[in-house]
Amino acid sequence: MKYRQLGDRGPKVSTIGFGTWAIGGRDWGRTNDKVSKRALHEALDKGVTLIDTADVYGFGHSEKLIADVLKERGKGEVIVATKAGNDFYDATEEDDKGYGPIRQNYDKDYLIWAAEQSIKRLNVDVLDILQLHSPDLEKLERDEPWEAMEILKKQGKIRYAGFSIQSFKETEQAFLLDEHHGLLDCIQVRYNILEREAEKELFPKAQKYGLGVIVRIPLLFGLLTGKFTKETRFGDDDHRRMNLSPERLEKYVDEMEKLDTLFKEYSTYTKAQISLAFCISHSACYTAIPGAKTPQQVFENCVSSDLAPIPIDKIPSLSY
Ligand SMILES: NC(=O)c1ccc[n+]([C@@H]2O[C@H](COP(=O)([O-])OP(=O)(O)OC[C@H]3O[C@@H](n4cnc5c(N)ncnc54)[C@H](OP(=O)(O)O)[C@@H]3O)[C@@H](O)[C@H]2O)c1
Repeated sequence: MKYRQLGDRGPKVSTIGFGTWAIGGRDWGRTNDKVSKRALHEALDKGVTLIDTADVYGFGHSEKLIADVLKERGKGEVIVATKAGNDFYDATEEDDKGYGPIRQNYDKDYLIWAAEQSIKRLNVDVLDILQLHSPDLEKLERDEPWEAMEILKKQGKIRYAGFSIQSFKETEQAFLLDEHHGLLDCIQVRYNILEREAEKELFPKAQKYGLGVIVRIPLLFGLLTGKFTKETRFGDDDHRRMNLSPERLEKYVDEMEKLDTLFKEYSTYTKAQISLAFCISHSACYTAIPGAKTPQQVFENCVSSDLAPIPIDKIPSLSY
């Protein structure tokens, strides 16, 4: 496992982290907490030191699983990055189907309160990284979310401030870095070998301001492992029924076929490993946080950290 300092001001992190949306146990089909914890242990055994989560993942469940595992083995150098802004506290068990009444709440007082709830669930004194959880632009044009992050830093409740940029809004929200780079330490971005919009404006700005980029959805929800076909269908309890809908699969699978030459060139590695290595090869990207449900997936994904950098410029930019 290789390590990098996350931007100019962030902590040192492994170049492959662990995204814990799926093991929260909602919106990703059935999961098993025992297996999820084994997956977390496997990640830590392999040298992963960055775990990404959010308060809303499983309505707090993802944070609690992380706390359990870190209690079992000690937190050590592990950095836990969580998020706030998706207010689920009034939602019922059924409510998150299709992102029901979970509502975006970036009011200053709410964000401060939500961070305190994460501190309790994660069983820590201070959050390593708190990220604004993919707000709409209109929320970010208000001062409140930024003030909340500033206050939380001053109060010593967060060490680093992050901003998870909404999917497909990479260019639209890039200007915010000009305004708030003084407060931010890192950003989280949807980026993978098929979706490279962030290369245009966002990454140059992140580099200009020394912000650490954390790459999310690096496997395009599992598609880049090569295991899905145009015929794959997901259950009602799996967000991929929308995010990898039959129409999207049709397009993505065609696009992926154009990468066959690349995959053949690195044929000692799996498609997942090559796709992850791609993400951390861009000079703006410090770490990628693939989600995983099993120790086997974690084992496979962690190998990518040690691959030689992939020459990004030689890979054709596809349609996204
Ligand atoms: N707005 C935001 O801030 C936001 C949004 C999305 C994600 N995130 C963060 O980014 C993390 C990563 O994104 P993601 O989890 O959505 O997508 P991803 O990393 O692209 O895909 C993860 C999924 O792919 C499958 N997979 C992973 N490794 C595999 C392997 N080696 N072989 C076969 N299948 C494998 C697993 O699901 P199956 O086994 O079920 O196929 C896994 O849950 C999230 O966990 C979360 O922490 C943040």
